[in-house]
Amino acid sequence: MHLFLLLILQATAAIGQIDPVHCRFPLGMEDGRIKDEDITASSYWHNSTGPQFARLNREEGDGAWCPKGQEPSDNQYLQVDLGRLTFLTLIATQGRYARNLGKEFARAYRLNYSRDGLLWRPWRNRQGNVVMEGNKNTYAFVSNDLHPPIIARYVRLIPITRLSTTICMRVELYGCPWEDGLISYSAPEGQLMMLPGYSMVNLSDSTYDGAHKRRKLSGGLGQLTDGVIGQDNFLVTRQHPQFLVWPGYDYLGWRNDSLGTQGYVEMEFVFDRQRNFTSMKVHCNNMFSRGVKIFSSVSCWFKSRLIAGWEAEPVTFNTVLDDRNPSARYVTVPLNRRTAKSLRCRFYFADVWMMFSEISFQSEDTILPAPTFMAGTSTPGDEELTMTTSPKTAAVPSPSATPDEGNTPVLIGCLVTIILLLVIIIFLILWCQCVCKVLEKAPRRILEEEVTVRLSSCSDTIILQTPPVPPRSGHAHTGPNSDPHYERVFLLDPQYQNPAVLRNKLPELSQSAEASACGGGYAEPDVTQCTPHQCFHSSAPHYAETDIVRLQGVTGSNMYAVPALTVDSLTRKDISAAEFPRQQLIFREKLGEGQFGEVHLCEAEGLPEFLGEGSPLPDRDGRSVLVAVKQLRADATSQARNDFLKEIKIMSRLDDPNIIRLLCVCVSSDPLCMVTEYMENGDLNMFLSQREMESTLTHANNIPSVSLSDLLHMAVQISSGMKYLASLNFVHRDLATRNCLVDRRLTIKIADFGMSRNLYSSDYYRIQGRAVLPIRWMAWESILLGKFTTASDVWAFGVTLWEIFTLCKEQPYSLLSDEQVIENTGEFFRNQGRQIFLYAPPLCPPSLFELMMRCWSRNITDRPTFEGLYQALRPHVNQ
Ligand code: ADE
Repeated sequence: MHLFLLLILQATAAIGQIDPVHCRFPLGMEDGRIKDEDITASSYWHNSTGPQFARLNREEGDGAWCPKGQEPSDNQYLQVDLGRLTFLTLIATQGRYARNLGKEFARAYRLNYSRDGLLWRPWRNRQGNVVMEGNKNTYAFVSNDLHPPIIARYVRLIPITRLSTTICMRVELYGCPWEDGLISYSAPEGQLMMLPGYSMVNLSDSTYDGAHKRRKLSGGLGQLTDGVIGQDNFLVTRQHPQFLVWPGYDYLGWRNDSLGTQGYVEMEFVFDRQRNFTSMKVHCNNMFSRGVKIFSSVSCWFKSRLIAGWEAEPVTFNTVLDDRNPSARYVTVPLNRRTAKSLRCRFYFADVWMMFSEISFQSEDTILPAPTFMAGTSTPGDEELTMTTSPKTAAVPSPSATPDEGNTPVLIGCLVTIILLLVIIIFLILWCQCVCKVLEKAPRRILEEEVTVRLSSCSDTIILQTPPVPPRSGHAHTGPNSDPHYERVFLLDPQYQNPAVLRNKLPELSQSAEASACGGGYAEPDVTQCTPHQCFHSSAPHYAETDIVRLQGVTGSNMYAVPALTVDSLTRKDISAAEFPRQQLIFREKLGEGQFGEVHLCEAEGLPEFLGEGSPLPDRDGRSVLVAVKQLRADATSQARNDFLKEIKIMSRLDDPNIIRLLCVCVSSDPLCMVTEYMENGDLNMFLSQREMESTLTHANNIPSVSLSDLLHMAVQISSGMKYLASLNFVHRDLATRNCLVDRRLTIKIADFGMSRNLYSSDYYRIQGRAVLPIRWMAWESILLGKFTTASDVWAFGVTLWEIFTLCKEQPYSLLSDEQVIENTGEFFRNQGRQIFLYAPPLCPPSLFELMMRCWSRNITDRPTFEGLYQALRPHVNQ
């Protein structure tokens, strides 16, 4: 087995790629390989609580590092110099135990890091959050996986003081040497791919830690160096256990005709020092059915020093294109042992798109796992690790480079490893077949184990049974006297190791013990089991597969999207409105038309008598009643006819003063009609855009106007109507002023006219061959993940408020193109402060703008509910 491990490690080293799953070695705080002088701090309380005492599981001095001054400041830090560039994957912290005398620990902390000691960058997780969970007591250590990993030499831990009165810390860092030596790459920003049927695929570099300027990334590292390779089919959403991602997340991709270059992407790579480059490996997608291929050729230029010029002679390499196998793959580019500190490479397109997920560099002076990372290890099984340490001069071979004699043992090692792996895989398959047969007969109570097995086999990051598994940090606490001494740490959040907890954490997976993260069928969510906010996670990734049924109205309108279960129950009960004699509808004028029909203003003779006492009557115009009549075109498709009938059933269930009301229907003969209240002032967008804010000027000149109080009253009414819809688990999906109607007393009623009205066509973004989406009103998760929930309706409500307080004089994000709006949603996801928010309308009271901003919170749980919005808005009226 030792030999086997040795071979695996040798093979990994030979490939030269970092594997974040295995790169989890303690870096030497606990065992002293990191020297005292390399541990510094912004301050310390006393000599006995200096930074040199910040070592995990050690009890020297007064037991930990404690910063000076306890007033909340969050600018105290503990700094560790790792002596070389390091790939960091995990961090563990402890408080001051001091043989049970200590009381201090940090409940939360942030991380800053630097590659050169000058430029410091804040670490953010993949959701853009900077705060990490810290300790809960003085003795147990809590570890945090770094997603994304950090590539740095210096790390600063910044305890968040406002959460604890007194703070002390002990620390260990985990990772492995960053042999590539790459300190930054620059590239054109990744782009959006529009695909029929798959909405948008965002191919940006989501974790890039450098500058984003004029559509260029510069001075940082990101997804190309995070050790995570993209999938063969980039349209499938990767199930990351700890974070939510969208299809194509792992790739940085560009479209050939959009860069203004002659068919290439230019990237620059800067290294820590001069190196003799043997090869570069680029992990590329090759899904040619979607117009994606590996590059056809690449030319690289070399520069020895930063101030020197580029050498004239490039290294050029032509690839062999592959139209048969769509697998993503590493392309190895020989770099002919050229010496440089910087490289500039032009990758030429072979098709419409080029998509990279990782780039790594091999150089002759690359050092395989350095002795310093292995020294001092004394637990069994460590010999292999120490043995793999190669001499400093060992070259990392490239499979595509001409194998020389020095590489032969490594190649043999690789081959033997592959053979051994194959044997083990065959053995496992055979074994699994036997076990599965037994399990098939086992009762359902093994469900939890099933989840575990699925996770462990499908996720690339979860390791459930990798020995030696230490008592788990953070949550599975180790007592002060326990000895968690192990050299390679395979830690994962225990919450992910406990399937029950995991189910709560990952609703996508919880419903998918059945639907499976491995690509099983789509499980319809049970909307009765969760609140609309919670339901967020429970739907499938693409528009085609959301948990929402969308109904097309007669005028091409969309009836409110309702959860599948609700539609079902509605239709089953066969609720319908009363049949009105159609000859009593007297046509007055046409109000609008759409793909499948028209809306007319009609007089409805005898309607009050027909509806009877107690029924809510529309405003009367003399004897007759004015109504809006939606009529289905005679030549409408049977699908449109069905939808029309469903729309009637759903509308007949809705009974709220702020939702447009269905009064009666004419469905016993064609054309099918539905009769709704008539709203004299038309839609709210039109209404407001034709008005000014009330002032002496508007009064003097008889200019149509509205007061601030009118606007607030409108906002309250819309929140009230939405509160009602939300209480029924109805998701509107297109809340906007254009879908609200106004009567002559300024009562607002929510309707849904769909996307077919020409007047508002610019509010909708058309995805080729498929959805038409109101992107400027849509929450980031609706655009990126196709998730529509009450929480995304809340986002749209925020935009609707913004429209109201700008009197609909401007389209939301009017300065951004549709593509830029979609790119901006990527920024909302990343939440790194680069997202563009709608500005505060000058008319809008600050407290109201704060409310809007809350509607646009990245995390759905931070968004208000409609009940909350209603309660918050109501007091503003008549102020
Ligand atoms: N246009 C479409 N439906 C309408 C309604 N109910 N009232 C006024 N205008 C409309």
